[in-house]
Amino acid sequence: MEEPLVRFKGVTKVISSRTLVEDLTLDISAGQVFGFLGPNGAGKTTTIRMMVGLMSITKGDILIGGHSIRKNYEQAASQIGAIVENPEMYKFLSGYKNLVHYARMMPDISEERIREVIELVGLTDRIQDKVSTYSLGMRQRLGVAQALLHRPKLLILDEPTNGLDPQGIRELRDYLRMLSRKEGTTVFVSSHLLSEMELMCDTVGVIQNGKLIDVRQLRTSEGERSFEETAFEVHDTALAGQLLKAFQYRVQGSRIIVRGDRSMIAEMNAELVRGGVKVYGIQPITTSLEDQFLEMTGSERHD
Ligand SMILES: Nc1ncnc2c1ncn2[C@@H]1O[C@H](COP(=O)(O)OP(=O)(O)O)[C@@H](O)[C@H]1O
Ligand SMILES: [Mg+2]
Repeated sequence: MEEPLVRFKGVTKVISSRTLVEDLTLDISAGQVFGFLGPNGAGKTTTIRMMVGLMSITKGDILIGGHSIRKNYEQAASQIGAIVENPEMYKFLSGYKNLVHYARMMPDISEERIREVIELVGLTDRIQDKVSTYSLGMRQRLGVAQALLHRPKLLILDEPTNGLDPQGIRELRDYLRMLSRKEGTTVFVSSHLLSEMELMCDTVGVIQNGKLIDVRQLRTSEGERSFEETAFEVHDTALAGQLLKAFQYRVQGSRIIVRGDRSMIAEMNAELVRGGVKVYGIQPITTSLEDQFLEMTGSERHD
């Protein structure tokens, strides 16, 4: 197993005796788009501020590429590109001049690399225009281009979809996915909206009241949706339950619903058939994340 790119080890943040983030332990492997999902006030920005060194860590540590944010800040931070607060832009300069300005503050950014990031975020046609004429989505992309200049292994975006329309969100998702494919960049993106996270991310971690309450994979490394749950429709749910007792399951009418990834489905089916259970149907269940998220956070459904 490859060393995870990001490791949270019991990360805790306390400010004036209030615990904002509590004992956060989480590994994020390289190359994926990771979603940090939680309602407003959950502790997402606080966590991100600790990741990028804008805020101290009360207890625990965060490792980026094996380097400790606490003990080895320079090396850890050199692997991060981030947009935490609104990126500073010079509105009356062109996008290009803004990038050149930032490139000068970093070592060894070539003219060619500037061109490359512009291409990557799809701003080639408009890069000579003043930033004041850009849409919010374009400013966002310019911010990402800026964060990518030094080829970070990890790109961190705090609520990047805020204020974007559905078209902008779709574009953001497409280029984040492309980024992880083309540059191998791992993306850490926060949001309070599950529907956006489902579209964008391979894995989602759910934070509530400063605590990580769930982590689940939404897509396989090939980008296919992974099914967390599968329903087997059978003639005898009790017998089926006995045969599948090694797995987590629940019974719903004539269906037995199991948890487990795709590769286990064929194995479970073989087990059922061997044990004499008639299997009438096998159905993946993909909607469980939303229901569980609403359940966990106690939110209302708005649709
Ligand atoms: N500097 C601070 N001092 C005290 N409390 C803070 C500070 N920053 C954030 N908080 C509180 O910590 C909680 C988590 O905030 P935040 O990390 O911004 O949540 P999120 O980004 O998930 O909306 C909130 O209740 C917020 O009021
Ligand atoms: Mg926030």
